[in-house]
Amino acid sequence: MLYQLLKTTHSLTAYLVLGFLLFSVVNALLGLLQKRAYTKKDLRIHLFALIFTHLQVTLGLILYVVTPLLQSWGALGAKVMKDAYLRKMLVEHPFGLVAAILITIGWSLHKKQKTDRGAFKKILIFYAIGLLLILGVLPWKTWLAF
Ligand code: HEM
Ligand code: HEM
Repeated sequence: MLYQLLKTTHSLTAYLVLGFLLFSVVNALLGLLQKRAYTKKDLRIHLFALIFTHLQVTLGLILYVVTPLLQSWGALGAKVMKDAYLRKMLVEHPFGLVAAILITIGWSLHKKQKTDRGAFKKILIFYAIGLLLILGVLPWKTWLAF
């Protein structure tokens, strides 16, 4: 079933997204602290984090319209906000989209930097905020029960 396939993929690629984002944040922090040059390897690490975040959110947006949970809006209306699980999945979790937008802005700005320090700094700030936001809206209970 398309829904099951999307949900399983979205749950599994979540590990890659978190992994690459964390790796990027640590990498940018070390780059800044060590005052080293911004290399192609750095670009690749940060690009992988961007790509998997984009893939994740694209899958998430499709998932939102195919999930049976969506029918709760019709059945319950604003009462969705009273159910912790439904509020998490239908209202809070989709804010992962905002995280992806921030990460994309960070990526875009970092490419325009004239100094290596500036490039590391933009990645560090935007990717770290994006990562924290994602950690804040993840459905931990259901994900780890998976
Ligand atoms: C499977 C889905 C997706 C994949 C694999 C993907 C991958 C990528 C890649 C490889 C780049 C290029 C980064 C670079 O070389 O500079 C990129 C950039 C970008 N993507 Fe996505 N993307 C996906 C979906 C989306 C969607 C759905 C949107 C928006 C609705 C989006 C918005 C953007 C934007 C705005 C940039 C430009 C960032 C910049 O200024 O450099 N992407 N994406
Ligand atoms: C930005 C990074 C994101 C990450 C790391 C992420 C991760 C996850 C994880 C781990 C689950 C749990 C699956 C399970 O219970 O087994 C999940 C479920 C879900 N995600 Fe995301 N997600 C992201 C963004 C989004 C976005 C932007 C949307 C929609 C706008 C979205 C829509 C959904 C939906 C609808 C489900 C529940 C599907 C269901 O139980 O029927 N996700 N997500």
